[in-house]
Amino acid sequence: MKIGIIGAGHIGSALAGRLTRLGHTVYIANSRGPETLTDLAQKTGATPVTAAEAARHGELIVVTIPLKNIPDLPRDLFANVAADVPVIDTSNYYPLLRDGQIPELETGDLTESEWVQQHLGRPVVKAFNNILADHLAAPGQPAGTPGRVALPIAADDAAAKQQVSVLVEALGFDAVDGGSLRESWRQQPGGPIYCNDLPADQLRAHLTRLGTTRTEAQHAEYLANQAKQEQAMAAQGVKL
Ligand SMILES: NC(=O)c1ccc[n+]([C@@H]2O[C@H](COP(=O)([O-])OP(=O)(O)OC[C@H]3O[C@@H](n4cnc5c(N)ncnc54)[C@H](OP(=O)(O)O)[C@@H]3O)[C@@H](O)[C@H]2O)c1
Repeated sequence: MKIGIIGAGHIGSALAGRLTRLGHTVYIANSRGPETLTDLAQKTGATPVTAAEAARHGELIVVTIPLKNIPDLPRDLFANVAADVPVIDTSNYYPLLRDGQIPELETGDLTESEWVQQHLGRPVVKAFNNILADHLAAPGQPAGTPGRVALPIAADDAAAKQQVSVLVEALGFDAVDGGSLRESWRQQPGGPIYCNDLPADQLRAHLTRLGTTRTEAQHAEYLANQAKQEQAMAAQGVKL
């Protein structure tokens, strides 16, 4: 498959390396231009391009840039991309360390990926947001391995969700249906599914227990947990 990756940081480069090794042709872009990606190209076998070219070439596209930079992407980035090309969003909201406060995410009116979808003007599939980049860079495990890490995939388009599930499985993870994009709050930062490398049975149990409609209490709890996490990261000098 031809895969376009917009964002060449931790997640973009981890995915580029894994996907080229699986035999896919990967086009990768950052904000500074393809000429700054020669080292990454050598390491991963991906072809450096502009964001517009990554979108044009991709039979599947991954957008993996900081959430606050999503509105900087060109408005017409996906104008000529066929409707059946899945667009994966890996975003997470880090208001303290990186993104600043985004009103719709503070109120909970939108999930993080609904906010991204609104800015991109294009349906997205939420995936790979809840696994650390270095865990994604390592080879996964064959299907059937006890304790194999599972990743949730949330989207409104069943066909796109299915295509992304096939990719997740090929990368060595169990693909678990994370519900609709509206329901994707469950895999956001601050909750039990975020970056805990859970196997499928535990992941599904959390999804069931959490329910589908986010309550105000759940929203407040996730925000509070994430604030604590960000404060701890700040205290350790972590910069995003
Ligand atoms: N790091 C993780 O372990 C992890 C895990 C799961 C999910 N996530 C989420 O995935 C997203 C990406 O995270 P990351 O850690 O990979 O970020 P990162 O290491 O900071 O890399 C960000 C990349 O996005 C590019 N970029 C920024 N603005 C752009 C624009 N307008 N057009 C094109 N490219 C642009 C940057 O290019 P330049 O360097 O040229 O500016 C850089 O290559 C974030 O929402 C993050 O929260 C991260």
